[in-house]
This record gives sequence, C-alpha cells and structure tokens, in this order.
Amino acid sequence: MKLHATELPFGKKQTLRNTPKIVLLVILTLILLTLISFHYPLLGYPSVLVKNSSSSSGHTAEDLVGARAGKKCDIYSGEWVPNPDAPYYTNTTCWAIHDHQNCMKYGRPDSEFMKWRWKPDDCELPIFNPAQFLELVRGKSMAFVGDSVGRNQMQSLICLLSRVEYPVDVSYTPEEKFKRWQYTNYNFTIATFWTPYLVKAEEADSNGPTLTGLFNIYLDEFDKDWTTQIEEFDYVIISAGHWFFRPSMFYENGQLVGCHFCQKKNVTDLTMYYGYRKAFRTAFKAINSLEKFKGITFLRTFAPSHFENGIWNEGGNCVRRRPFMSNETHLEGVDLELYMTQVEEFRAAERKGRERGLKYRLLDTTQAMLLRPDGHPSSFGHWPHENVTLYNDCVHWCLPGPIDTWNDFLLEMLKTEGGKSFDRRLHSSDGKMKIR
Ligand SMILES: *[C@@H]1O[C@H](CO)[C@@H](O)[C@H](O)[C@H]1NC(C)=O
Ligand SMILES: *[C@@H]1O[C@H](CO)[C@@H](O)[C@H](O)[C@H]1NC(C)=O
Ligand SMILES: *[C@@H]1O[C@H](CO)[C@@H](O)[C@H](O)[C@H]1NC(C)=O
Ligand SMILES: *[C@@H]1O[C@H](CO)[C@@H](O)[C@H](O)[C@H]1NC(C)=O
Ligand SMILES: *[C@@H]1O[C@H](CO)[C@@H](O)[C@H](O)[C@H]1NC(C)=O
Ligand SMILES: *[C@@H]1O[C@H](CO)[C@@H](O)[C@H](O)[C@H]1NC(C)=O
Repeated sequence: MKLHATELPFGKKQTLRNTPKIVLLVILTLILLTLISFHYPLLGYPSVLVKNSSSSSGHTAEDLVGARAGKKCDIYSGEWVPNPDAPYYTNTTCWAIHDHQNCMKYGRPDSEFMKWRWKPDDCELPIFNPAQFLELVRGKSMAFVGDSVGRNQMQSLICLLSRVEYPVDVSYTPEEKFKRWQYTNYNFTIATFWTPYLVKAEEADSNGPTLTGLFNIYLDEFDKDWTTQIEEFDYVIISAGHWFFRPSMFYENGQLVGCHFCQKKNVTDLTMYYGYRKAFRTAFKAINSLEKFKGITFLRTFAPSHFENGIWNEGGNCVRRRPFMSNETHLEGVDLELYMTQVEEFRAAERKGRERGLKYRLLDTTQAMLLRPDGHPSSFGHWPHENVTLYNDCVHWCLPGPIDTWNDFLLEMLKTEGGKSFDRRLHSSDGKMKIR
C-alpha cells in the first residue's frame, strides 16, 4: 500500500459541469476527503512520506530540529553516506553488546555495514559525542520501554558512551528484562523495561497456530511492570513492533474481542493493526495518567525488518551488503501501516499530554532504517549449529552498526530540548568550555 497524497482517491481532475448531480458529487467528495485526511492526517507525518506530494507541510515545527539556529532541517530525511572513520567501538572495547547482535564474533565476514553515517538532506547530523551527551543528561534518567530492539538501542548507547565512562549495574532485580545502569560521574541512570506488547500480556500457548506462541494481549490494561516504575524518569523512549506479528488473542474489558491470526473459527480476526493501535493508545494513556511524571516521551518509530525470499520463519534472509539509496525503495505495506498507526496514536497522545504540559517527541528512525537491509545479524547472531528462534535475524541490528545512528538522532534532539540551561552548563563558572 502506497500513501502519497497524489494517489489518494478523488485526487484526479474532474470535468465540472454546473449540474446539481455534479455539485452533490463534489460535496460528497469534499466530505470524503475531509474524513480521509482526518483518519490519515498526512500533514502530521514526517515529510519523507509526503516529500514528493504537492503538499509541503511535512513536519510540524516542533519536530523539526535545526542543525543551526534559525534554520530548520528534517534530520530524518536523508541518505546514508560513506564514513571511513566508523566504527567508534568494537566488540573488544565494549562489553555491552548482546551476544545475538555481536555479529563479528559469529564470523560476519564483511565490515562495510559499520562504515556509513546518516546525512540529512538539508543539514549535517553530527556523529555521537559521548562527553556532550553525558553533560546534557547529568543528573537525569532515561528509560527504554519496549522489546529487544529497544534494548538493542540501549546497548548501542552504552557502547557509544564507553569512550568516556562505563555504567555500574544498579538493577533492582536479577531479571535481565529489567536492567538499570548508573553513570556515577554524571549521576545519569538508564534502564530497560521489557514489555514487547506495551500492555499486559501473557503467553497462552507456547506453540500456537504457527509454533511461535499464542499470546493473550489485554489491550486496555497497563503493563504495571513498567507503568509503575517510570514516573521518576526524565526521558522515556517507547517502541514496539515485531511481536505484534505473532498470533494473539485480544482482550478488552476482560472479554475476548477478537484476535490476530489465531485461526479459531469462532473468533474474529481483527488484524495486528487493531492490536497495535490499541496497545499504543493504552501505553500513552498510562504515561499521561502518571501524576508526578514530568518527563519527555519519545516514540522511537518502527524499524522495518528486511527478510527477503521468504518470511521470518520460512527461510527468509537478509544478505544485502549495501544500504539502499532513498530512490531505490520506499515505505509500503505492513511497514507503512504500522508506522502510520503508531504516529496517529502518538499525535493523539501528544495533544492530550499537552493539556498538562507533557512533551512528546518523535524519534523517527523508520525511513533511515528502511534503507539498511545490510545492518542485520542475518545468520551471524549465533553459531551455525545453534537452534534459535530467529535463525536468520533480519530484525535486530549488529553492533556496531546502523542502530548507533539512533543515538546520534537522540543526542541531536536532546540538544534542542536543552535550550538555555544547556548553554549555561556548557559555559561553566570557570569560563571555559567544558565540551566542544
Ligand atoms: C513519489 O515517490 C515514489 C517512490 O519514491 C514514486 O513511486 C512516485 O511516482 C512519486 N510520486 C510523484 C508524484 O513523484
Ligand atoms: C570480537 O570479534 C572477533 C572477530 O572480529 C572475534 O574473534 C572475537 O571472538 C570477538 N570478541 C568478543 C569478546 O566477542
Ligand atoms: C542524582 O540525580 C537524581 C535525579 O535523577 C537526584 O534526585 C539526586 O539528588 C542526584 N544525586 C546527586 C548526588 O546529585
Ligand atoms: C470457541 O469455541 C471453542 C470450542 O471450539 C470454545 O472452547 C470457546 O469458548 C469458544 N469461544 C468463544 C469466544 O465463543
Ligand atoms: C538514484 O539516484 C542516484 C543519484 O542520486 C542515481 O545514480 C540512481 O540511478 C538512482 N536510482 C534509481 C533506482 O533511480
Ligand atoms: C531446531 O528446533 C526445531 C523446532 O524447535 C526442531 O524441529 C529441530 O529439530 C531443531 N534442530 C536441531 C539441530 O536441534
């Protein structure tokens, strides 16, 4: 499914004659167009999706991050360009790389995939500066709420920061799903909260119709594992996606309302999009209902997988060795639908949050990652004889690798949030610039 404004129905020129029938048709068309743009508020989407359409709005002012004062630039619209200086850490300098994303360990033969940087069309995106990042987040806390792709980003962040400092483990539970790290010199805390569906969920059948498990998802119930923990956090980075592909039963008000691919005769298949939308709605509702929460919520948008020649459990793989250029592919189908769904729920939550002064920001990684079929572990996430669920992993990202750029984006956004207080901190009392 493509969704360019030019391709919306009724977009074609019509020969208008002054007859009542035509007038009625025009009115109906206008009403329909209004409904369509209400349901798919194109103008609210990042400009990359509408960049070749006749409408020019794209991002709202708040989403645009200028590399230079007074100049607005959409950092999420651009190309990957060669960067011979990368990578900035390796699997020997950084211990935080999850085994399944340690692609070099498992014999990935090429290293080209590490040597690219993201170049926004209209400005530069600086390479991650660990000292600057830590200075910005001094005394603050950051939570990664989501699944293993969220954890993937957190581990990239730990590795990027490792040139300055390693954190100490201050987890409150031995469970790997809930880790907490402290940067003692900066009093900066990061934490991960495992919640692949963002809402309350449980595995109902470890096999299910596709042998990948069948999950009960309680679409209107908070997942208290994270919602009771994040009130104190200054930054919450929320994301979800790939788990919604699995078969699941949807519950609302405690009642079974339908499912996704459960293949049960008496249960309506409401599609994964239904569950995805409701899960985000409930997650954002949880955030907006936290009385003491004053943090900034980032939606890290869906990062497409790159299975080719089959789906993930039917032999699909990702063997490309170069990024795409933006004219070689575009967001479509399931990826586009998931992206639009989450951004719509994000916009709605942002409006509600604004009433009580909460900030929402898009960490809009979708387009950049769509262009990186070469950045996944593929078969180099484990030894060849190991039996793992994702035999060819085209979902997660090798470290070091393109996911490091998410933290370039994050730093760039934090810089604009920092504003005046950041400038003051930069110029410390001894009059010297602490960081460049
Ligand atoms: C917009 O871009 C897509 C792919 O990038 C292309 O298929 C389509 O023809 C373009 N539309 C216009 C109006 O240029
Ligand atoms: C790091 O990668 C190399 C290959 O580049 C591999 O031989 C080594 O075992 C890996 N080390 C760790 C600690 O993962
Ligand atoms: C560290 O930061 C927390 C907030 O995250 C604050 O409550 C605490 O007082 C800080 N500690 C020190 C020693 O600055
Ligand atoms: C669907 O049918 C099964 C038996 O085939 C039954 O156990 C289950 O309760 C039914 N579910 C609903 C929602 O009616
Ligand atoms: C994409 O653009 C580049 C130059 O910017 C050009 O060399 C290449 O042929 C284009 N590819 C396609 C598929 O249009
Ligand atoms: C791997 O797991 C699948 C399903 O769990 C099983 O059918 C297969 O025999 C296993 N292969 C090996 C080499 O253990």
